[in-house]
Formats: sequence, structure tokens, C-alpha cells
Amino acid sequence: MDEKALELNLDSLAEEARQCRQCPLAEQRTSVVFGEGNPTADLMFIGEGPGEVEDRTGRPFVGPAGQKLTEVLRSVKIDRQSVYITNMVKCQPPGNRVPTKTEMEACWDWLAAQIALIRPLLIVTLGNTPSQRFLEAREGIGQLRGKLYSWKGGIEVFPMFHPSYLLRNPSKTKGSPKHLTWLDIQAVADRISLLRSQSPGS
Ligand code: URA
Repeated sequence: MDEKALELNLDSLAEEARQCRQCPLAEQRTSVVFGEGNPTADLMFIGEGPGEVEDRTGRPFVGPAGQKLTEVLRSVKIDRQSVYITNMVKCQPPGNRVPTKTEMEACWDWLAAQIALIRPLLIVTLGNTPSQRFLEAREGIGQLRGKLYSWKGGIEVFPMFHPSYLLRNPSKTKGSPKHLTWLDIQAVADRISLLRSQSPGS
């Protein structure tokens, strides 16, 4: 599929998602925060759910956590526009609570369709919620992060700390969440370059 057709498909999917009322999160939302970025990205970032700024603007990761994510990406010269960014749930959970299992399952088909259209080589899951869902794991992000896992259709998954966690833990000392994230994003940058070099048509 060429980039334009893909964009049209993602756009029509987003349009459909904007009408979604499959779970109670639809009641209080201002926006459906579908996702944004490169429709042919080989690297995709998946967070938990929109916060206040995201709900207001309709864009993922544009509040304080989003600024932190952009900064983390920039540290390894990854441009935000070159990747695709979305969340497990597309509507803000009240008070930014963790989305329930029912809400995540109700929203799963939107995410599965986004992944099927974009066909990334590597998905970075941010924090406990997407990491545990993708890996069907009970361990926390502290245990899961920093390793590559293979997921469906040959796509790799790499869990990292959620950027909000970094905002709450600003220390940069060795072994701190910030330090580990710095190592993790370098591992992501290295892995994606290798996967790109191995992918057909590169
Ligand atoms: N936190 C998330 O998990 N996603 C966003 O889009 C913003 C904050």
C-alpha cells in the first residue's frame, strides 16, 4: 500500500473511532485521541491513555509526559514526526486513572487495526499498562523494561518506563529510571537501525 492510501485508511479509521461509544470513557471525553505520526513508521510508541492536555487537543503525548517523550527521542536524534504515537485507550480515563481491562479490550480493535495498517518493525510500550497487555505479563515495568520480546507477526516489543514516571523521578544517578531510560532509548535506536538495514527494500 502506498503512503497516501495508507494515510487515507488511517484517516478513515480515525474518523470511525471518533464515533466510538463502546465503553463508558466515551461519556466524558472531549476528544478521541486516535494517534499521530508517520503512517509508514517502522517504530511505534504506545502509552496508556490520553491525559488532560491530550483530551483537550485531540493529540497524543502533547502534555508534560509528551514533552518528556519528545526529549527522550531527541536524545538519540529520533524525530517525533518519523514515528507513530498512540495509546492503549483513545479516550481519557477520569482523573487519569489506569484504564480498566474492559475499557482496554473495548479499545483493542482500534489499536490492532492501527498496527495492521502501519506494520511497524518495533513497538515500544511505555509503562506497565501497555507492556503487561502486550506481553501478557504480570511483572511490573521495572522487570519487563530494557528487553526485546517477539510479538505477533514478527513485530518486536521493547518496554520502557512511562515518561510520567521520569517526571516523578528526576534523579539521573546510575540505575535511576532516567539513566535506565537513556540506556533503553539507545538500545531502541540501535535495534531499529539494524532492523531497517535487514528489512527488504532498505
Ligand atoms: N500519558 C499517556 O499514556 N498517553 C498520553 O497520550 C499522555 C500521557
